[in-house]
Amino acid sequence: SKAPLVIAVDGPAASGKGTIAKALARHYDLPHMDTGLLYRGVALSLFRFGGDPGNPFEAVRAIGDLDQVDPDDEELRSETVGEIASRVSAYPAVRQALLERQQAFAAQSGGAVLDGRDIGTVIAPDATAKLFVTAAPEVRAERRYKELIGRELDVHLEDVLLDIRARDARDAGRDAAPLVQAEDADLLDTSEMSIERAVQRAIELVEARLQTS
Ligand code: CDP
Ligand code: CDP
Repeated sequence: SKAPLVIAVDGPAASGKGTIAKALARHYDLPHMDTGLLYRGVALSLFRFGGDPGNPFEAVRAIGDLDQVDPDDEELRSETVGEIASRVSAYPAVRQALLERQQAFAAQSGGAVLDGRDIGTVIAPDATAKLFVTAAPEVRAERRYKELIGRELDVHLEDVLLDIRARDARDAGRDAAPLVQAEDADLLDTSEMSIERAVQRAIELVEARLQTS
């Protein structure tokens, strides 16, 4: 019998990794996990209940409240929560406490698609296919800006770009599972691609890996 299809999709903020991961899950009929939501959930709990994101113990404790976070909560997608998420995700104890559920998801018998920062490097190093999705920071800022103006009152493109650059630097610069392209990952730069084109290219890359696996 064939090994289950596991697809790892990593990349920086607003690169398009979530959109691509969802489309791949639909195409291959696989369950999908947006692992960023775990870190965003921890951040939202801290934010709501006045926890200190500078304190790793409080961040670990907030993991216990994850089940109470509504995945459709709009605030989960805010840049404020993304920023706090990138701070708490640098704590090894937080990453360790979230490791098992992600690895269990990746290891389910029918296969899976996961997107995040460390799927190909830490969570599923034996994934069938690994995509490292990127786009120029200015392009990513523009994309995130367009999402945010719909629901936040006071958003400025320059601020979104600064936030994205700060988050890139923190995610790539940390010691614990930094954002880095796995050696055996395929690079997919979506800067000049429509969503349709990016998804089509992602499927081609996965198919090429399936040929050789
Ligand atoms: O959608 P966006 O790329 O803006 O963010 P996200 O994927 O929801 O992740 C929010 C933050 O969680 C990131 O800036 C990372 O610091 C952290 N994260 C992580 O450390 N590892 C993951 N596998 C996923 C997210
Ligand atoms: O998951 P991540 O934060 O990497 O990005 P995303 O949520 O998939 O995409 C961020 C935004 O960019 C969404 O509104 C997408 O529709 C848009 N996007 C785009 O305009 N062109 C692409 N090639 C990919 C995504």
